[in-house]
Amino acid sequence: MKKFFLVFALLGTLQAKTYTKDVVMPNMSFSIPVDKNIIVMQRNCQWCHSYGYIINMGKQNEAFWRHIVHKMRDTFKAPISEQDEKIVLEYLMKYFGKQD
Ligand code: HEC
Repeated sequence: MKKFFLVFALLGTLQAKTYTKDVVMPNMSFSIPVDKNIIVMQRNCQWCHSYGYIINMGKQNEAFWRHIVHKMRDTFKAPISEQDEKIVLEYLMKYFGKQD
């Protein structure tokens, strides 16, 4: 038992030594185009994660974005109203949409 504690203490000391440097986190801001519907995007799509999730998807078709918005509402329980869903989809198709 004593040996176990000794090894444990030693490991603790080694680990403490590893974390002596300051960790600097990158500060990234993801901005999306501002138009009359930005307020709807803000109130529906920004309070769980950044717009980076949207930007990273690249240009997608309407079926893709509809699926995403429904996933946010049904799986992650985002309270997106029917009216807001239409506006969000219109916005996503305008700036992150493609026809196919
Ligand atoms: C209630 C919280 C919540 C809200 C509000 C929300 N999301 Fe998400 N979103 C999530 C979670 C949780 C994930 C998954 C994160 C992960 O897998 O790391 C996610 C992931 C995503 C992804 C990555 C693709 C994927 O399928 O995982 C996209 C794109 C996305 N969200 C777009 C949106 C859009 C557009 C809105 C606004 C309509 C929105 N989110 C609002 C919680 C939310």
